[in-house]
Amino acid sequence: MTKRFAVVLAAGQGTRMKSKLYKVMHPVMGKPMVGHVVDQALEAQMNKIVTVTGVGAETVQDYLGEKSEYVLQEEQLGTAHAVEQVAPLLEGKEGTTLVICGDTPLLTSETLKALVAHHEDTSAKATILTAHAEDPAGYGRVIRAEDDSVRKIVEDKDASETERAVQEINTGTYCFDNKALFETLKKVDNNNSQGEYYLPDVIELLKNEEELISAYQLSNKEDALGVNDRVALAQASKLMKKRINEAHMRNGVTLIDPEQTYIEVDVKIGQDTVVEPGVYLKGSTVIGEDCHIGTHSVIEDSRIGDNVVVKSSMIESTVMENNSDVGPNSHLRPDSIIKEDVHIGNFVEVKKTTVGKNTKVGHLTYIGDATLGENINVGCGTIFVNYNGKEKNHIEVGDNAFIGCNANLVAPVTVEKDAFIAAGSTITEDVPADAMAIARARQVNKEDYAKQLPYKH
Ligand code: UD1
Ligand code: CA
Repeated sequence: MTKRFAVVLAAGQGTRMKSKLYKVMHPVMGKPMVGHVVDQALEAQMNKIVTVTGVGAETVQDYLGEKSEYVLQEEQLGTAHAVEQVAPLLEGKEGTTLVICGDTPLLTSETLKALVAHHEDTSAKATILTAHAEDPAGYGRVIRAEDDSVRKIVEDKDASETERAVQEINTGTYCFDNKALFETLKKVDNNNSQGEYYLPDVIELLKNEEELISAYQLSNKEDALGVNDRVALAQASKLMKKRINEAHMRNGVTLIDPEQTYIEVDVKIGQDTVVEPGVYLKGSTVIGEDCHIGTHSVIEDSRIGDNVVVKSSMIESTVMENNSDVGPNSHLRPDSIIKEDVHIGNFVEVKKTTVGKNTKVGHLTYIGDATLGENINVGCGTIFVNYNGKEKNHIEVGDNAFIGCNANLVAPVTVEKDAFIAAGSTITEDVPADAMAIARARQVNKEDYAKQLPYKH
């Protein structure tokens, strides 16, 4: 079978982004643009992927890791110059080379596969992925000869008025006969308005040698979007969001208003889960079946079991097991484990804590650096005092303990199982099993004293 190589162009400055972050690393629904491109190329089963990096090369390389091989383009002299840097790895090899830009995040593996198949079926030396654009400004235009064959590509900045009116654009994705590509690249010059070596010039050079050039038109033109600035970045996110949301809905997830639901690309959601508007699901989050994720919840890098209810809460790097619930307006911070049937109510903050099965933390509580057993009741307004100004210490609460309202548990401290903490107590010493701890001043009632108080006069 024909060897298939992919070259991903990711060395450009990205000047138009006006950003400290390297262009192709800007995320679209949670994944850097270059990640989308490389993942789709991997899915399209390329034998080898080479990414051309330049400014910010290390960032791209660290991010993509072993998904790709790399070459460095030290100076960004244009897309043809970028591909030429790959010569040491590919020049002279028999095969098909797919060239993709790192800033076209919406291209799918299906399109890439279809493009490669079309290229190989027609035995063309080059095949351009083109698209029809209502507003072609900024893109290279595909100029066809009278017999409708592709003659050349003209960049927006070099185009005549008639050429500029052409609405068929170069998506920046191509297939080449590998040998012909590297032979022709040597002939590309930089006599153009930008003084750059343009990869699309290879097309005209091959055409002049009477080689067969083919074009494959993208049916869904939105997939061709090239992101050069933040306006296009937002458009790309919007299109990607729609694609992701539709896939979830087709898999049996109810999104009440998909327009206002943000689900990043790697998130997984089980059947019959309902997601309300204004929800943002991020990173590596996995949500089970039959959950209800209420409006304005943000869940990041978390694992949510089945039948979990989240009401207007923020959850970060946390595990919530089956049948647990949280909110409204609570915050589960990293490294927390909320076991089955746990109830976390309103205005509760939990950090780096395990909460055992069937335990209830109903209202206005802070729990940090703690381990709580099963069937515990944590009263309203309780504070786990985990920080002494210098270090964080651990707090342990045993099964079936009852913590009265407004208690302070000062770390390090252990409350053993079945113990009872009286409301308003500040607990600084361990409490043995079955004991009641009370640590507050006794109440004194002063008869008739209120009558003399200034506010009465
Ligand atoms: C390019 C095409 C244009 C096409 C458009 C599609 C050229 C000359 N033009 O234009 O015909 O319509 O893409 O989106 O190719 N890059 C390098 N090294 C360089 C220059 C660029 O690696 O020296 C990379 C960039 O990081 C980017 C890609 O190549 O990922 C495309 O470069 P960009 O400057 O965005 O080209 P466009 O002007 O968009
Ligand atoms: Ca571009």
